Amino acid sequence: MIQIRDLHKSFARKKVLAGVDLDIEPGQITTIIGASGSGKSVLFKHIIGLLKPDSGSIRIDGEDITKLRERELYRTVLKFGMVFQGGALFDSLTVGENVAFGIMKPDLTAAEVSRIVSLSLDQVGLPDDINQVMPNELSGGMKKRVAIARAIAKDPQIIMYDEPTTGLDPIMADIINNLIIKVNGSSKITSIVITHNMVSAYKISDKIAVLYDGRIIESGVPDDIKNTRNPFVRQFIEGQADGPMQIR
Ligand SMILES: Nc1ncnc2c1ncn2[C@@H]1O[C@H](COP(=O)(O)OP(=O)(O)OP(=O)(O)O)[C@@H](O)[C@H]1O
Ligand SMILES: [Mg+2]
Repeated sequence: MIQIRDLHKSFARKKVLAGVDLDIEPGQITTIIGASGSGKSVLFKHIIGLLKPDSGSIRIDGEDITKLRERELYRTVLKFGMVFQGGALFDSLTVGENVAFGIMKPDLTAAEVSRIVSLSLDQVGLPDDINQVMPNELSGGMKKRVAIARAIAKDPQIIMYDEPTTGLDPIMADIINNLIIKVNGSSKITSIVITHNMVSAYKISDKIAVLYDGRIIESGVPDDIKNTRNPFVRQFIEGQADGPMQIR
C-alpha cells in the first residue's frame, strides 16, 4: 500500500533521513521504532505529505505523493486518520465536537454526524454520555481514546499513531494496544505506529522497522527483531546506555 524508496531529507546541513526504504502492507500494523531524534516524526510528516523530501519517493496506492501539488495532496490527506502524541484535542470543544471534527464528509445531516460520533465513541469503549464532557475533565487514557475515536470517525484507509502509549500506565497502555489491534482488524485499516515502547511494539506489530542514522536498519516480524544479532538494534531493544548507537 505504501512504498518508501531512498528517501532523503536534510534541514540546513543536518541530514535526518539518509535513504529510507520501507514497505507498509495493506491491512497490517507496521511499527516504526527508533531513538529520540532519529527522525521518526520527520518520516511521519513525509508520509502524510506535510514535508517534501530532498529526493526519493513515497507511493501510496501507486501514486508518488512527493510529486503532488498542495491541492492534489488534499485527496491523500483524506485517506489518513491521525492520532497525535498527547491526543491533541481541541480544549474548547466538547468530546463529541472533537470527534465530529474528524468527519470529513461535507454533506452529512446533524443526525448522521451524531450517529457516527456515537459509533466511534462506542468502538473505543467510551460511554455515549461522555459526549458533552470537556477534554480537560478526562484522564490521559480517555483523551487517547477520544483521539482514536476522532481518527476512526473519518473512516480512513490508513491510521497513523504517534507514540500512542507514551505517558500511560502499563494497564492503560495495554488497553490502547488492544484498541489499535481491534481498530486494525475490524475495519481493514492499515496502521502505522510510532513508538518507543518495545512491549507495545512486540504485541501489536505485524512488522517492526528500526530507524537509525537516517535509514531503516532492520525490519521484520516481532520475533526477527527479538532475535536480531544487529548490535545497534540489540542495544535499543535492551535499552542499554552503552553500545554502538550514537544517541544525539
Ligand atoms: N522543521 C525542522 N527544522 C529543522 N530541524 C528539524 C525539523 N524537524 C525535525 N528536525 C530535526 O530532525 C531530527 C529528527 O527529529 P524527529 O522529531 O523526527 O525525531 P523523533 O525520532 O521523532 O524523536 P522523538 O522520539 O524525540 O519524538 C532532530 O534532530 C530535529 O531537531
Ligand atoms: Mg517524534
